[in-house]
Amino acid sequence: MDSRTLYIRRLPQLRRALLRWYDDNQRDLPWRGTRDPYSIWVSEIMLQQTRVAAVLPRYGKFLRRFPSVEKLASARLSSVLAEWSGLGYYRRARNLHAAARVITRELAGSFPTHSDQWRKLPGIGRYTASAIASIAFNEPIAVLDGNVERVLRRLLHRSTAADSWNAAQQLLDRERPGDFNQAIMELGATICVPGEPSCARCPIRTFCGTRGRGQSQSRKARQIKASISIALATKGGSVLLVQRGVRESLMSGMWELPILNHSISNEEVLFRVRHSITVTDYVVSVIARSEVNTESGRWISRRKVHKLPLTGLTKKILRKANLIK
Ligand code: ADE
Repeated sequence: MDSRTLYIRRLPQLRRALLRWYDDNQRDLPWRGTRDPYSIWVSEIMLQQTRVAAVLPRYGKFLRRFPSVEKLASARLSSVLAEWSGLGYYRRARNLHAAARVITRELAGSFPTHSDQWRKLPGIGRYTASAIASIAFNEPIAVLDGNVERVLRRLLHRSTAADSWNAAQQLLDRERPGDFNQAIMELGATICVPGEPSCARCPIRTFCGTRGRGQSQSRKARQIKASISIALATKGGSVLLVQRGVRESLMSGMWELPILNHSISNEEVLFRVRHSITVTDYVVSVIARSEVNTESGRWISRRKVHKLPLTGLTKKILRKANLIK
């Protein structure tokens, strides 16, 4: 796994644009608009390897037949399989039934609230655990399925899917993780489709690295330019650094300078550095600030900065500013 920080300009705006689009345009599907873990779990299992159109006529019927986890657990496997008939991949029904028994018998009928716990149940992989925990319990954990992977590849202009879980996690809106996950899946299913995406209707096209240009360009043409602004705030003998969250699987716990999400004028730029990450060449504008509004920023004494694990870009900037050697 490689480790790359996701430098997307205006990340909060991107999240907002996608969520707003989802709020206004989402398909009216029966598993939306509920936070009931049982209904959400059943929907996610049915949707594995199965198109929405095929699930729709079966979902409500299944829930009417087995309206609760207790009813499912006490049913005979043969009747669950019968209700699943025609949906295929019957192992899903067997696992659903087995997991219902674990929940009722070993967990006293309480659903797990965390994705790690969901993953211990039969038939629940990383995607499904994250989907259920984010939608039903608001856990800030990203999903990655084929649709999300395609959206990410285009958005980030990446030729491979390597590191996509990390990218998805960094992109995630932590206030509305369940909606955000469903929004990005919805975008992949309805707009950012395989082949010819409908970029003209895409709510995040202005953030997108490819905008429908597809995958068939030369390596040179794929190299894109982007710019970001980073704050260099110093006070006394200290510099303001932000530690990446421990939950961020990418460079978690490392320290970096705060990224500024608003536009800046040329006069504010202290200096610029170039920083390339695979297909993206960044021009990084470093802005002198006396304060930066970050929740997690800490003033670190210059004498101690070099002892911290710093990201590559942070080191580059601090060296150029003569703050470290
Ligand atoms: N595919 C599987 N689960 C989904 C969901 N909750 N929303 C959109 N697409 C999905």
